[in-house]
Amino acid sequence: MTSPAFPFSFFYPAVLSPDSIQHSFPILDRKINGHRLVYLDNAATTQKPQQVLNVSRHYYEALNSNIHRGTHFLARAATDAFEAARNTVASHIGAARSEEVIFTAGCTDGINLVSNILALSGTIGAGDEVLISGLEHHSNIVPWQMLCEQTGAILKVIPVLDDGTLDQRAFVDLLSERTKILAVGWVSNAFGTVNPIESMIREAKKFGALVLIDGAQAAPHLSVDVQALGADFVAFSGHKVYAPTGIGILWGKTSVLDALPPWRGGGEMIKEVTFEKTTYNDLPFKYEAGTPNIEGAIALAAALDYINSIGLEVIHAHEDELVKAAAAGLSEIPGLRIFGPEDRVGAVSFLIEGLHHYDLGTLLDQMGVAVRTGHHCCQPLMARFGITGTTRASFALYNTLEDVEALVSATSKAANMLR
Ligand code: ALA
Repeated sequence: MTSPAFPFSFFYPAVLSPDSIQHSFPILDRKINGHRLVYLDNAATTQKPQQVLNVSRHYYEALNSNIHRGTHFLARAATDAFEAARNTVASHIGAARSEEVIFTAGCTDGINLVSNILALSGTIGAGDEVLISGLEHHSNIVPWQMLCEQTGAILKVIPVLDDGTLDQRAFVDLLSERTKILAVGWVSNAFGTVNPIESMIREAKKFGALVLIDGAQAAPHLSVDVQALGADFVAFSGHKVYAPTGIGILWGKTSVLDALPPWRGGGEMIKEVTFEKTTYNDLPFKYEAGTPNIEGAIALAAALDYINSIGLEVIHAHEDELVKAAAAGLSEIPGLRIFGPEDRVGAVSFLIEGLHHYDLGTLLDQMGVAVRTGHHCCQPLMARFGITGTTRASFALYNTLEDVEALVSATSKAANMLR
């Protein structure tokens, strides 16, 4: 039997043309508060192209069935589509084997999986050190704090410099034989800082530490080649790469994952169950207990096909132009301070002296401009800068220079109204 092909094709020119791309995103046609929607909250979640929406719908209309369990046509077709999706993800991230790709509920789920199996296996124990950074999202802080509480391990934090980058000297000084894992984000969701993860991985490996990369904010903007990176684990979410919510992936090196125990127990992750003893399945199923998000995995593959039909380099160049234009335009506004280094990816985070970020966000919304305000799930980072939050504009491939102009003009108007 062959899996029914999805009746959708992807073709885009080599140079990104946001006007034609916008037509692929039905939600962008919405009017918000009487204005054209200017959606600049892409670091929180991206909108979904029609191609991905069609694949999700097609799955439920033509394929829906449980996977790896049935002999009937739909069960086989859904299984084939799910495993084809795993192959697409593996090839997108340059994995050596598709078995190294574990479907998760999202990036947070992947990080929790790793922290739990490291604790369960005793890989990290009392007195060992877990190294994270001051730029991390709560999802790459709290699982490690929980692990430290359970095991007696010690959490160490790489400090953040005033320009919003990590103190690389302090990082090297913090590494030692006690460092059992370096868990660090590639791109900061709050400031757009891009960490030099290749060199950080190399340094951590000198001490034999495991390395986990939180790729949630990198995957939408940068090419990921897990073999070239040399980390042990990379996690990201589907919903930030134009796929639905509730799906993500954890990539892990075969030799590392094979040596670690399962986490969640249930169907699919077993070889044989008796009341006396259960034996566990091989990768990737060992880590996929229960019925997975089948439609989500297939739609994630469609989203990656969509991205690749345009090309991440083309997308990155386009978004870089928008980020630079936004930073330049916003910095003309009196009293406005931008956080993070100039060389940022995906997001521009700012505050206007004397104005609350929430008030600014509310006024921007009234003008049709959707941004995120607050601590961006990075309270320690906000505390480092003595602030409660920022206003953050974050960009995706469908944004345009017109969106940037709308952001700058609405921010300037709002600032004048609030002053
Ligand atoms: N992590 C997401 C953000 O930065 C939710 O907004």
